[in-house]
Amino acid sequence: MKIFLDSAHIEDVKKAYDMGAISGVTTNPTIISREGEKFEDLLNQITEIMTDGPVFAEVLAIESEGMIAEGMDLWNKYKDKNIVIKIPAIPEGLKAVKALSANGVRVCVTVVYSAVQALLAANAGAMYVAPFVGRMDDIGENGLNLAAEIREIFDAQGIETQIIAASVRHPVHVAELAKMGVDIATMPFKVIMQMATNPNTARAVDGFLKDWEKVPK
Ligand code: G3P
Repeated sequence: MKIFLDSAHIEDVKKAYDMGAISGVTTNPTIISREGEKFEDLLNQITEIMTDGPVFAEVLAIESEGMIAEGMDLWNKYKDKNIVIKIPAIPEGLKAVKALSANGVRVCVTVVYSAVQALLAANAGAMYVAPFVGRMDDIGENGLNLAAEIREIFDAQGIETQIIAASVRHPVHVAELAKMGVDIATMPFKVIMQMATNPNTARAVDGFLKDWEKVPK
C-alpha cells in the first residue's frame, strides 16, 4: 500500500518526501486554507518537491459545469506535473467525472461515505475513490468497514479504480487498511511520524551508544 501525505505544508511535504515515506500528496480546500498562501503558489511548490508521484487538488464548484471548467483549467496547467483532480461524490460531481475522464483527466472522487458512492464513481470513470475513514468513525460508523466493503466490491466486479483511504487518523488505521489491500492511504504528517517512531527502538539505540562508551578506544 502506498502512503500519501495529506497536507500542503511545504516543510512537511519536503520532510516526508526526503524520508522516502510518500508516493504522492493530497490536498483539499481546508488543508490549503491553513497555509496562508495562494492555492496555485502552493501547488507549484508541492509539485516541485513531489516530482515522481501524483499531487491531488480539489475543485470548489458544486455544479458540474463549474467543476468541469475548474478541473480542465487545473489539468491544463498541471497535467505535466502529475495532477489529479478531486471531485466531491455528489450527483453533479458524477457528471463532471464522466466529462473530465472522457477528456483524459485523472480524477479522484472524494468525500465518499458509502460503498455505492464509490461504485458509481468508478462507473463514471474515476481513477481513484477516497473513502473518509476517520470521519466515518467520528459519526459512530466504522470507517475501516467502509474501505473493506469498497475493496470487496471492486475485487468482485474487477473494477480497477484505486482506493485511496483518506481521513486516516492513526497507525492502526494504516495497518488495517494495508491488510485489506487498499491501494493508497493518505494521512497527515503527524501520522507518518507516529509510524516512523517507536520509543523502544529509540531506547535500544540509546543503549547501544551508552554501551559503546565502555569499549576501549
Ligand atoms: O483530504 C481529505 C481527508 O483526508 C480529510 O481528513 O482529517 O480532515 O478528516 P480529515
